[in-house]
Amino acid sequence: MSTEKYKKQAAEAALEYVEDGDIVGVGTGSTVNFFIDALAGTNKRIAGAVSSSEASTQRLQSRGIELMQLNSTGDLPVYIDGADEATRHRHLIKGGGGALTREKIIAGASRRFVCIADESKLVGALGAFPLPVEVIPFARSFVARQMVRLGGQPAWREGFVTDNGNEIIDVHHLEISEPGKMEQKINNIPGVVSVGIFALRPADVLLIAGADGVREI
Ligand code: 5RP
Repeated sequence: MSTEKYKKQAAEAALEYVEDGDIVGVGTGSTVNFFIDALAGTNKRIAGAVSSSEASTQRLQSRGIELMQLNSTGDLPVYIDGADEATRHRHLIKGGGGALTREKIIAGASRRFVCIADESKLVGALGAFPLPVEVIPFARSFVARQMVRLGGQPAWREGFVTDNGNEIIDVHHLEISEPGKMEQKINNIPGVVSVGIFALRPADVLLIAGADGVREI
C-alpha cells in the first residue's frame, strides 16, 4: 500500500522538472501512470508528450494529453520514467514492463532524464532484478546461450511480444559489477535489440520516495 503512495509522491515531484512549452518524454509503468495523471491535473501548459509504449499512449490519450512523434520533435528537454532497480550512481535496470527499447531511445534523445521510483527500487548493485533483453525472435536461443556464457540464467518471457514485435529474455543471477561494460557487451551480441541496463546513458536525476519524503539523487 505505501509503495503505491511513494510511487505517487515521486511522480508528483517530477512535475518540478517540467516547464511550460515542453515536449515531455513519458516512460512506462505504474509509477509513470501516476505521473501521467499528475501531468493531466497540473496547470502546466506543455506542448505535448512523446510516449514510450502503447500502454502509455492510451493513458495519455485518455487524459487528453497531445501526443507527438519523436521523428518530428527533435531532442526533448525532459524525459520522465520509472525503473526496476536504481543505484546511487543513477545506473538503472529497466524493462520489467517490456518497453525498454523505446525508453532507451527517448532517454538518449532527452537533455534531462528524471527517474522516479519508490525506495524499494534503490539498490547497492544492479542484478537482483532479472535483466530484460529485447531480442529479434529469430535470435532468441542464440542470445540466450550468450547470456549463459556471461554467467546468467536466461528465461524466455513466453507469450510476450514487445510493441516492436520482438521477444524478451529475462536474465537471472547475472553479476553486473561494471554496468557500462556489461551494457556494451550485451549490446554487441547479434540479435539483441536492446538491454535493460541504463548505464551508458544513466538518469540525470533520481527521485526516490519513501518514509522520509522524496529524496533527490
Ligand atoms: C517498463 C519499465 C518500468 O519503468 C519499470 O518496469 C518500473 O515499473 P513500475 O513503475 O511499474 O514499478 O522499465 O519497461
